[in-house]
Amino acid sequence: MQGLLFQENELQSEAAGGEKTLTALHSLYERSRTCTKCRLASTRTNFVFGEGNPHARLVVIGEAPGADEDALGRPFVGRSGQLLDKILQAVQFRREEVFICNIIKCRPPQNRNPLQDEIASCMPWLLDQLDLLKPSMLLLLGRVAANTILQNTLSLGAMRGKIIRWKQFDCVATYHPAALLRNPNWKRGCWEDVQMMRHHYEMLQGMTPDA
Ligand code: URA
Repeated sequence: MQGLLFQENELQSEAAGGEKTLTALHSLYERSRTCTKCRLASTRTNFVFGEGNPHARLVVIGEAPGADEDALGRPFVGRSGQLLDKILQAVQFRREEVFICNIIKCRPPQNRNPLQDEIASCMPWLLDQLDLLKPSMLLLLGRVAANTILQNTLSLGAMRGKIIRWKQFDCVATYHPAALLRNPNWKRGCWEDVQMMRHHYEMLQGMTPDA
C-alpha cells in the first residue's frame, strides 16, 4: 500500500461501526487500486485513492493527482498540498482530521484536464468512498471538482460563497490551491469561503449556536 492511507482518528473514540468503516474502506481501496476502467491506467504510476480520517465529517475533493501525488500514491503532497494544509490549518482543521481525495484517481498525462469519459469512469469510486465515509460536508477545490459534484456547468464564481446541498452533503466550493499559487489575489476569497465552511461545520456539529 502506498504511503499513509488512513490515519486513526485521535479526536473521537472509536464509535460503534467505526472499525467496519475502516475495513470497508480498505476493501474498497484493494478493489480500486488496480482499476483499468479508463486510459489513465496505462500512464499512471500509482492509483491515488485518498487518505485521512475514516470518521471525517469533512471530505476535501480536488481534481486529479499531479506528478508528486502519482509518484507517492498520496493526494495533495506537492506544492498545492502544502498550501491546502495551510488553508485547512487557518480554519482549525488538521490534515489528519479530514479525508482528502480527488475526482480522478490517476494522473492525467502532462496534468491536462480530466476528460468527461475519465470522470464518468472514476466517479463510482468517489461515490463509494462518500457512501462509506458519510461526511456531513464536502469542500470542493476548483471548478472541475465543483462542476462534477454539483452536476452543473457554472463558473466557480457562481458557486462560491454559499452552502450548496448535494445529496445529503453540504458543499462549499472554493479556488483550487494550484489556482491560488498562480493568482495570490484570490486568497482572500478562499479565506472567506473556508471561514464560512468552518462556521457551518461547527453549527452542524452543535459546537456553536447558529448566529
Ligand atoms: N491537485 C489536485 O487536484 N489533487 C491533488 O492530489 C494534487 C494536486
